[in-house]
Amino acid sequence: MTTKTSESMVFSRRTLLRAAALAPLATIPVLARSQTGTAFTPQVGQSGKDVIWVPTPDALVDRMLRMAQVTPDDFVVDLGSGDGKIVIAAARDFKARSLGVEFNPDMVSLSRRNAETAGVAGRARFEQGDIFTFDYSAATVVTMYLLPGLNLKLRPQLLKMRPGTRLVTHQFTMGSWEPDDSATVENRPGYLWIVPAAVGGSWKLTTTEPRGANEGSVAFSQVFQQVTGTSRMSSMEGRLRGVRLTGDRLSFEAMDERGMLRSYMGRVSGDRIDGTTQSADGVMGQFTATRVGAATPVDAGRD
Ligand SMILES: C[S@@+](CC[C@H](N)C(=O)[O-])C[C@H]1O[C@@H](n2cnc3c(N)ncnc32)[C@H](O)[C@@H]1O
Repeated sequence: MTTKTSESMVFSRRTLLRAAALAPLATIPVLARSQTGTAFTPQVGQSGKDVIWVPTPDALVDRMLRMAQVTPDDFVVDLGSGDGKIVIAAARDFKARSLGVEFNPDMVSLSRRNAETAGVAGRARFEQGDIFTFDYSAATVVTMYLLPGLNLKLRPQLLKMRPGTRLVTHQFTMGSWEPDDSATVENRPGYLWIVPAAVGGSWKLTTTEPRGANEGSVAFSQVFQQVTGTSRMSSMEGRLRGVRLTGDRLSFEAMDERGMLRSYMGRVSGDRIDGTTQSADGVMGQFTATRVGAATPVDAGRD
């Protein structure tokens, strides 16, 4: 396992270095003053605290932010923000508030100047800091172009973020987490994950429709956003079908008390789920689920 990880790290560093070699010169920003007052020229491939600097190509930046469906209501944080291009694009093209966290102070100064030049200094901010200690919990979108091992190291923190937070990476995945979406632009992959609500455990289910109310139970098992489960309604037991969890939105199909499939679509809020339901013969109703016992922490999956 260790060997496999270190082999893939070496491979990933090579991938990043190859990307550095291929990065068009046009992506290298203009001269900036360094912290010491001397001229600072960023070099693609220059070393960084945990990973070198290689900028994400413009077209992929745009695609990553579109995959995350960034709007003016979002707060976009780029972890290891380099010259600030993702942060600036989020503010300029999507009118979001945005923040770059970058360890290299010269890159932070450069980013601030780039934001001023782009006319978005009011919405796009930059902080010098370490992504492993910086508090970015208020973000609604987190972007990353790091390394596989760094993505894995960030997973516990990312998993604690508010359900619905979008995580977008360039090039590298989040270990065994199944992406919610992906795209390839100019041969570079981008991936999206949506932080799921914690639904693991047992729930009491109450369904109300014009024909009356019924009580039953459901139980969910969860690995990141992948959910499976079982249900019991009256004497009818079975596996849940088509379970889908996107942030705090949960939908599934379960066998009802008459042995027919019923669909459920609801919103998870802590230990409660509220939503609508539809029977196989088209009768609409409402449902509420309340968790019985403690929530099962979300299983982050294998590396
Ligand atoms: C591959 S570059 C990506 C730059 C930018 N996000 C982009 O996609 O264009 C990674 C950046 O992370 C920065 N970095 C490395 N380790 C860091 C750490 N522990 N905390 C903050 N920034 C870090 C590097 O200086 C570099 O600018």
